[in-house]
Amino acid sequence: MGIVTVATTPQSPLHDLDSSVDEDDTGDDAVRRSAGVGESSRASRHWWDRNADEYQDEHGEFLGDDRFTWCPEGLDEADARLLGDVSGRDVLEIGAGAAQCSRWLAARGARPVALDISYRQLQHSRRIDLGRGTAPVPVVQADAAVLPFADASFDLACSAYGAVPFSADTERLMREVHRVLRPGGRWVFSVTHPIRWAFPDEPGVEGLTATSSYFDRTPYVEQDENGNATYVEHHRTLGDRVRELVAAGFRLIDLVEPEWPADLEQEWGGWSPLRGRLIPGTAIFVTERG
Ligand SMILES: C[S@@+](CC[C@H](N)C(=O)[O-])C[C@H]1O[C@@H](n2cnc3c(N)ncnc32)[C@H](O)[C@@H]1O
Repeated sequence: MGIVTVATTPQSPLHDLDSSVDEDDTGDDAVRRSAGVGESSRASRHWWDRNADEYQDEHGEFLGDDRFTWCPEGLDEADARLLGDVSGRDVLEIGAGAAQCSRWLAARGARPVALDISYRQLQHSRRIDLGRGTAPVPVVQADAAVLPFADASFDLACSAYGAVPFSADTERLMREVHRVLRPGGRWVFSVTHPIRWAFPDEPGVEGLTATSSYFDRTPYVEQDENGNATYVEHHRTLGDRVRELVAAGFRLIDLVEPEWPADLEQEWGGWSPLRGRLIPGTAIFVTERG
């Protein structure tokens, strides 16, 4: 199966979440302002296409070619088993990047499909498959809020920091995942822990003092000299997330807040041992379709 491209209408652990107007390392302005569905989607597609090589270069070793890790804290699905039994299951990985999680799933007898908005990220999936000489993971390029699948196509859906933080309309995204899942299917996804939005996204001591309101849902936007968004992240409080999941028809089974392992010294952007030992960095929502 090749890369299936679907027209889209419309971090993530990489950016400073300071609320003041700032400048990122590309010279773009970093601001808090509204950003709609189309603008967010376009920005994500272009940003991840431009930055996929650097992302895989920097984080590929930690991610592993066929490791399923949920977060910079290194909680692996092999230990956490948040998806339950995956053997023989049809699994949709959303915001899959280079599909490392899908490769882990396939090795355990699942039938994964890896979906991402970025063509370049999916090319990295193919690069890894070719390098290993293994059967390619089926990949689909699409926006997670407009899933190009028939109703009830999958037994499970998962996402490790993919799509959810970048989507302006996560109410719709949740409804879409609900639609493509079969009854009883699990939807498990990890995102930056919402409390982190109150703190500067810095690994050092400056990242320990709250400078923004946790309740400010205004998106974080980087924009070029014409005011066009080049990168967008959206914030939801814990309560917002629970409400949109319940409204879409999911039952919340667990909310996992992985603790920073005592022996982990590796930083990932603002995720560091210093901060990780004091405040949660990741929230993993474990849900089941009603
Ligand atoms: C932080 S990366 C995570 C990728 C992978 N799960 C990992 O752990 O390396 C976020 C991914 O979400 C994808 N993404 C962002 N917005 C998306 C959207 N609206 N629909 C689908 N994928 C999206 C990006 O292209 C990127 O590959």
